[in-house]
Amino acid sequence: MKGSFPIEKFQTVRTPFYYYDTNLLRKTLEVLRTEIDRHSNYHLHYAVKANANPKVLRIIREAGFGADCVSGGEIKACLDAGFPAEKIVFAGVGKSDWEIDLALDANIFCFNVESIPELEVINQLAGAKGKIAHVSFRINPDVGAHTHANITTGLAENKFGIAMADMEKVIEIAASLTNVRFAGLHFHIGSQILEMGDFVALCNRINELQAQLEKHHIKVDNINVGGGLGIDYQHPNEVSIPNFCDYFRTYRKHLNLRPEQQLHFELGRAVVGQCGSLITRVLYVKQATYKQFAIVDAGMTDLIRPALYQAFHAIENLTSEEKKETYDVVGPICESSDVFVKAYDLNRCRRGDLLAIRSAGAYGEIMASGYNCRELPKGYTTEDFA
Ligand code: LLP
Repeated sequence: MKGSFPIEKFQTVRTPFYYYDTNLLRKTLEVLRTEIDRHSNYHLHYAVKANANPKVLRIIREAGFGADCVSGGEIKACLDAGFPAEKIVFAGVGKSDWEIDLALDANIFCFNVESIPELEVINQLAGAKGKIAHVSFRINPDVGAHTHANITTGLAENKFGIAMADMEKVIEIAASLTNVRFAGLHFHIGSQILEMGDFVALCNRINELQAQLEKHHIKVDNINVGGGLGIDYQHPNEVSIPNFCDYFRTYRKHLNLRPEQQLHFELGRAVVGQCGSLITRVLYVKQATYKQFAIVDAGMTDLIRPALYQAFHAIENLTSEEKKETYDVVGPICESSDVFVKAYDLNRCRRGDLLAIRSAGAYGEIMASGYNCRELPKGYTTEDFA
């Protein structure tokens, strides 16, 4: 064992693979449960897009949380994992008819609707089934977030949500339709956010919008503030569980909830990010003119975040205690961007060493691709190696 990794057992399976430390996942869920339970009107819908591995989903379902889905496939995965339909919300700017039908048949809790044409289609499809669909409107709050440009979503320039100026009109249209019922408002400003001030800005905006709606005697039963809480990619061991206490305290302090209003959260990364590592083997150590490369058997097809967002993931050599040396850790894919990290200090690497690419539980396995005809990486848990 190095840290909490069952290294001997790792030798029995083919690399690369994802390893999920389910003890850490369960501990994270316990902390979340304690924080959520301080408030009878707080609800967590785990953002399935972060990781839909069936074993991970089952553990999250067992902790009693709901699910935030963005496709028919995710809804199916959640139903298969045993999530109760009445805890499932369904978001996304482009829901296909079959996906809406699937959600209607399952009787999910709520659709997070992002446009008037979508609202009309949901009304029509629900009508055809003699059902009434609950709809929340995703409002684009035009609030920025201190994160990577590719993962901010709450600015007016982004494709997401309905403009604030159209909010009342949309609610009015919903009231005129027979097969939808206005259930609330939905927001999401971005991902990997560590500055609580960004969430404060969202709260302030929601307070303004609520005041505006109250003038028109519009009652909002549910407020959904999305997800976005970040994790500490630099210190996966020291900060293995995000500061949920601070996060929920921010909402408690700054959001003016009305009596009986329900507050919903859609955290993804903060739930699963730190429990996952991508385990890979060193194939070759190559000396170049000015540097050395550790060429590993995992690539950007297994974990695309460094290539796509210049994201940092800490790396550990699990099988070496030798003096540290500096490496560029790169994969085997035929792309220059197939680099995990540059000029990084690792215990001296030799062919066959096992490396753990840390904090890869969120947007790792789920974003893997088969480019170069590569096999998708498998996901193992602590129990698989018990
Ligand atoms: N709710 C909505 C409406 C979202 O769009 C997202 C993420 C979440 C919740 C969950 O956000 P989280 O709590 O995980 O930050 N692939 C990127 C992240 C994309 C996030 C997309 N939306 C990455 O690897 O960083």
